[in-house]
Amino acid sequence: MKKKVWCAVFAVLAAGILAGTRLAWSRGKEEMQQEKTAIRLGILLYRGDDTFISNVRQALEEQAKLYEQETGIKVVLNIEDAKENQITQNSQLERLISLGYDALCVNIVDRSMASAMIDDAMAADVPIVFFNREPVEEDLRLWEKLYYVGADAKESAVLQGNIVAELYQKDPAKVDRNGDGKVNYVLLEGETSHQDSLIRTEWSIQTLMEGGVPLEKLTGGIANWERSQASAMMEQWLEQFPGQIELVISNNDDMALGAIDAMERLEIPDPINVVGIDGTPQGVQALERGMLLGTVQSDRAEYAHAIFTIAAALALDEDPKKDIQLVDEKYYWTHQTILVQ
Ligand code: GAL
Repeated sequence: MKKKVWCAVFAVLAAGILAGTRLAWSRGKEEMQQEKTAIRLGILLYRGDDTFISNVRQALEEQAKLYEQETGIKVVLNIEDAKENQITQNSQLERLISLGYDALCVNIVDRSMASAMIDDAMAADVPIVFFNREPVEEDLRLWEKLYYVGADAKESAVLQGNIVAELYQKDPAKVDRNGDGKVNYVLLEGETSHQDSLIRTEWSIQTLMEGGVPLEKLTGGIANWERSQASAMMEQWLEQFPGQIELVISNNDDMALGAIDAMERLEIPDPINVVGIDGTPQGVQALERGMLLGTVQSDRAEYAHAIFTIAAALALDEDPKKDIQLVDEKYYWTHQTILVQ
């Protein structure tokens, strides 16, 4: 009998000690969480030498410094360049996960391949903020810790179309330069697989037509966002259609700059109207030199601020919505503005 009583007392004491230890552990964890003094973020870029992306990267580094100053929390940024290779990017992601990074910001190479990355991130409970190259919505809905930051492609295109449409409405001769009642244009497109290329092309042309510009397409090509590819293409078109091109519509500033390079190389006397999208510093310079008619600027600082704010909140196990307003709980669309000569 005595033995049984002692056993019971011992069991109660043991349970108490165990519960106490658990409480202390969980308190310890909470305190650790509260006192987190550093966060580690991985930034995965599809191609580090893409002009727009390298501008966003720079702005992200500035955001990290600002955040450190404001919060006293140290930020470790690990920036990786996939050089347009999805397999490379997958292994970069796996490595950062295995190194215990708190959150990842992913500019995915192939937007149709997001689910494999998402599976890995979910298994390790590492949240992802995708940016600029948008995974399909179905993939983004696979987990609540997935977000997207970007500029709305239709909005960029409508603004780009309006630059030319408004000029035409004010002074048709500035757009229909030979006054034959048609505006002969060439089109420079980004990567075929990128959501921005398809949507920008469609809505830019539609806006111009709705704005009453009598468009006539001479030719077009895919220059994959790249200045040198666009420059080679434009040089060929200038030779193929001498004196006929009146307008260059480009899906981004870098390809617009490529077209301008070709015009300068061939010493075209009266610069042809060229419109771009992005508002990169290089694009703005061309605008100031009178070579680029207009562009649509994505606010780089806002872009990076949105990516960083969401990622930092997730790294601290906090809800990003407390710091930033999201659309459908997952999306942040940056503001865009028209810049014209
Ligand atoms: C677009 C941008 C391009 C290029 C591309 C890369 O949104 O306008 O210049 O950076 O993203 O994904």
